[in-house]
Amino acid sequence: MDAEEKLFEAIEDEERPEVEDEENEMPMGGHQRLQRRNKAVIDKFLGKGRMMHSAVIFPEYYGELLTWALQCYIEKEEWEVIRTLKYRAPEPVYIDVGTDYDRCENLLMNGQLIVEKDDIHLIITVDLYNPFRCGNSVQVEGTARRKKEVEAFTDGVKSIAKEQNFYRGKKVEFSRHPRLLNVKDRSWESIVLNPAIKREVKANTVDFLRKGKRWAEYGIPQKRGVLLAGEPGTGKTIICKALMSEVDGITCITTNAYALSANEYITGLYEMAEDLSPCIVFIEDIDMIGLNREEYGYRSGPALISLLNVLDGVEDKQEIITVATTNNVETLDRAISQRPSRFDRVITISLPSIEERKELTNLLCQKIPIDEPIRDYIAQKTERCTPAQLQEVIYSLAIEHPVESIGVLSPYLEISKEKVDHAISKVNGRNRCHLGFDIENNHNGHNVAELNQTAVMKSD
Ligand SMILES: Nc1ncnc2c1ncn2[C@@H]1O[C@H](COP(=O)(O)OP(=O)(O)OP(=O)(O)O)[C@@H](O)[C@H]1O
Ligand SMILES: [Mg+2]
Repeated sequence: MDAEEKLFEAIEDEERPEVEDEENEMPMGGHQRLQRRNKAVIDKFLGKGRMMHSAVIFPEYYGELLTWALQCYIEKEEWEVIRTLKYRAPEPVYIDVGTDYDRCENLLMNGQLIVEKDDIHLIITVDLYNPFRCGNSVQVEGTARRKKEVEAFTDGVKSIAKEQNFYRGKKVEFSRHPRLLNVKDRSWESIVLNPAIKREVKANTVDFLRKGKRWAEYGIPQKRGVLLAGEPGTGKTIICKALMSEVDGITCITTNAYALSANEYITGLYEMAEDLSPCIVFIEDIDMIGLNREEYGYRSGPALISLLNVLDGVEDKQEIITVATTNNVETLDRAISQRPSRFDRVITISLPSIEERKELTNLLCQKIPIDEPIRDYIAQKTERCTPAQLQEVIYSLAIEHPVESIGVLSPYLEISKEKVDHAISKVNGRNRCHLGFDIENNHNGHNVAELNQTAVMKSD
């Protein structure tokens, strides 16, 4: 159970906060009631008198950034934490936060800190992922004569979060708890693709971002949308990965296909992208929300409308590139596929030509010893295969080859043309598998192509 579930379970029986202080955006009635449990300790620590408070409120996706910024501020300004008290749950709740690719910190998610510096006493309430309201808050309280220190505290936390935001320039998967992605580098050289297509993809994405100032001089908005369309296994995801590898220092945000249709996901995604720009947003499998509404029904309508709205509004947002992928551009809503300025370019990734199949076969056979005539035969016979299928033909030939005979008579695997034909027929005959960023998130053993089909059938 993660910290958020633990917190939710612990407070399930709590009454809902009755009074909300709109002006300060804090549930004051609820806060006072919750704080009553710590009243004796707090009163003793702060003393009597009029109290004042100041709060930092962050959106859902920035809860972890907020508690991290608080911790950094406490350390930097050398506040001493005297005690940590419970708040909503029976114990203070902590959460593991990945603040760099190889660093994870255990940070307070819900609780009250009693802090002291010289003779200044403050109470800090950390209330993240509170299920009763959106947003995350850190509230600082002290006696009225400490107004200046209370405000300096919240300003300090805000400025650390803004200036040292640990998501900036990184690769991030967007969700309520954004996750830093340690994506393995993928080189363009390892992708077999028509050179003109490669150039077109780069010109509309990374090169476009790099030359941003020139577009500003020409009056061209510094934003762009590119839709990569192609059958499953043509290389759309690895193109995205190659783009990510190329743009060190530029924020790359990927989406989770299963969360895409959730309320507020798209809006939060683009808020974050704007905050972290220059930025590339990758929306893999846009079909999940972008199917033509007239043909396939309005099930994912709200998410699609959010997307159309943010893409229209991105004009004022600068230096955001959106790269989306789809298996079938024909099934997409025309508001996505045929409307420049949302997706300015639809780039079709076609099945590989004979030259490309030869190139890919040779690339794969750098490590798998298959001699040239058989390589040529494989390339010739895989005419309607995607690169992923061609790859599978070669892998299966290697895997099914008897291990004991390798290297006995020749340095090459002994593969007959019949075996190649058999391997091709097996690959062509089975369902194609979806491969993408979120393969490990595939629930219930379904692949996205299957889910899409189900979605289509249900709305028929
Ligand atoms: N053009 C290519 N060049 C080299 N390898 C490729 C290419 N296309 C696909 N592959 C191989 O096939 C695998 C699957 O490709 P990828 O995940 O990029 O397909 P996709 O187009 O994103 O498919 P889907 O639409 O199902 O998400 C890759 O990991 C890679 O090994
Ligand atoms: Mg993919």
